[in-house]
Amino acid sequence: MKDIHIASATCLRCGACASECPSNVLTQHGEKTVPLVAGTDMCIGCGHCVALCPSGALQHADFPKEKIREVDRGILPSPAALMELMRSRRSNRSITPRPVPEAALSDILEAARYAPTAENSRLVEVRVLRGEDIAKVEDATMRFFLRLAALLLHPIVRPFTRTFLKDLYRQAPALEAFRKRWEKGEHPSTCNATILLAFSAPAGYDFGWQDCNLAYQNASLMAESHGITQVYMGFVQTACRLFGRKRTARLLRLPQGHRLFALMGLGVPAMKYHRYTLR
Ligand SMILES: Cc1cc2nc3c(=O)[nH]c(=O)nc-3n(C[C@H](O)[C@H](O)[C@H](O)COP(=O)(O)O)c2cc1C
Repeated sequence: MKDIHIASATCLRCGACASECPSNVLTQHGEKTVPLVAGTDMCIGCGHCVALCPSGALQHADFPKEKIREVDRGILPSPAALMELMRSRRSNRSITPRPVPEAALSDILEAARYAPTAENSRLVEVRVLRGEDIAKVEDATMRFFLRLAALLLHPIVRPFTRTFLKDLYRQAPALEAFRKRWEKGEHPSTCNATILLAFSAPAGYDFGWQDCNLAYQNASLMAESHGITQVYMGFVQTACRLFGRKRTARLLRLPQGHRLFALMGLGVPAMKYHRYTLR
């Protein structure tokens, strides 16, 4: 049961909290009356009521004073600034071994936390992997795809599979290039990323894909604004899908019962893009 209280002495009776509450915990019966609070166990803890109340008369136990901030409109990006960031963002795959500054990583993770989640469930967890953990992911992915390629390119198998696995066969030269880089000690499938962020949610949760990928997008724009490159690790995710949930969870150190829904590679880029192409 959430403790929500409206101080009638300071309530302006505007009804903003009641009209915005997505769970109908706050209702206003008649204009210019103090909203009633009922059924607080239905509250999803989104904090809209606290954020909207013009006089601060509404108090919510989940949001004590130290968890509330005024919006600083002066530092919000203009639509043009935001558009330029989105247009110029690229999956820059030239990543240096230089470490991602901790302050940037902290902002990236915080940006992920502010993404919307279904019913404000906030079940998304982000695991941060570095060093040896990334090497294990890289090796598992490369070994898996090289074994698959060896099987598919086998002269007995090839004639039976090449028509319905056309897309896979098209990737064969790219995989060969990856193999050469991997044998030299590079990490081609994870783009030499120095950090991997594994976005996961409980396996049985209905909105894992949506919540994790919204968090991913928030994080990716924050990375871009810090000059940190991010690349979506689709190649690794495909391998993980085929590894199965248990092996994936072990490899990416996911929380108990969680499933992987998005994987981001981060790093300090070796070069900057000077222009963008129109889409
Ligand atoms: C679901 C998804 C999977 C992706 N997988 C990979 C990947 O495995 N390796 C890679 O280098 N880029 C990957 N990318 C990046 C895309 O190739 C890239 O977004 C696209 O080429 C457009 O380029 P841009 O992001 O620079 O605008 C992926 C992107 C998405 C959305």
